[in-house]
Amino acid sequence: MLLDIRKLTIDFPPSRKRKAVRALKEFSLRLEAGESVSIVGESGSGKTTLIRCISGHVTPVSGSVSLFGADLSEASSQEIVALRRRCGVVSQDPYGSLPPTLSVLEAVMEPWLLVRGREARQAGEHKARELLDELGIGREEILSSKVRLSLSGGQRQRVAIARALVLEPELLLCDEPTSMQDASTRGDILRILQRRQETGMSMLFVTHDLFLARKAAPRGLVLYRGEAVEEGLCRDFLASPQHPYTKALVAALPKLSSSATYAGESGGR
Ligand SMILES: Nc1ncnc2c1ncn2[C@@H]1O[C@H](COP(=O)(O)OP(=O)(O)OP(=O)(O)O)[C@@H](O)[C@H]1O
Ligand SMILES: [Mg+2]
Repeated sequence: MLLDIRKLTIDFPPSRKRKAVRALKEFSLRLEAGESVSIVGESGSGKTTLIRCISGHVTPVSGSVSLFGADLSEASSQEIVALRRRCGVVSQDPYGSLPPTLSVLEAVMEPWLLVRGREARQAGEHKARELLDELGIGREEILSSKVRLSLSGGQRQRVAIARALVLEPELLLCDEPTSMQDASTRGDILRILQRRQETGMSMLFVTHDLFLARKAAPRGLVLYRGEAVEEGLCRDFLASPQHPYTKALVAALPKLSSSATYAGESGGR
């Protein structure tokens, strides 16, 4: 089992400004190697908290997360680092998640150099260039510019995707990775992720958009106020939603004619 989450409950304690929050309630999810799932939920439903817990950044109150067969609560910090290296993470915030002083090319190569060492620099640079090119930001002046200086939000998001893919992760955790892209680029990114899935990568794809969820992975889970309220195939959520929140999501979707396309919605899933 690649990922086995059992009855995960996560609380954030009260502060002077806000009450305590239960961000996840007895949340369970199992993913076999090579499987992917889209997690759909409104703002504040716990999506980012879930990703942060799987990547070892948030500690649960109860329940367990087992990644590549290792229980995170029993793993040493060294083991957690080793497990994290097998996961790529595209965090929701492309501003905070990239090293601002590195150039675009160095930012993408950094995880590679940390794991494979400086002697593998040439291969890492080749890989980073290839990925950035695939993501439409291969121009030399972009590659050599500092991350913090000259990138739009959408470009940062694509650099973050390249950085998450550079080590060819077994599991990609993506938190709304295409929220700043136009529809055509969003479609390109989904195809890039789909190709990785076809060669064995698993993916947990977080979004609030049911169409995008269906495109990212056939299997889906609807998260509402920290609880999994509906699980199954994204296409079934769209065709016959069961939970009131899923019904509301579907009712709010733009009505598309059968020939219309959305987010690269051409064929496939
Ligand atoms: N570090 C934190 N401290 C306190 N409360 C937090 C913290 N992080 C998240 N929360 C709270 O936990 C709940 C879930 O937040 P989370 O960021 O996981 O939601 P989300 O589904 O990712 O939302 P969005 O779609 O807006 O990104 C919210 O009520 C949020 O306010
Ligand atoms: Mg979030």
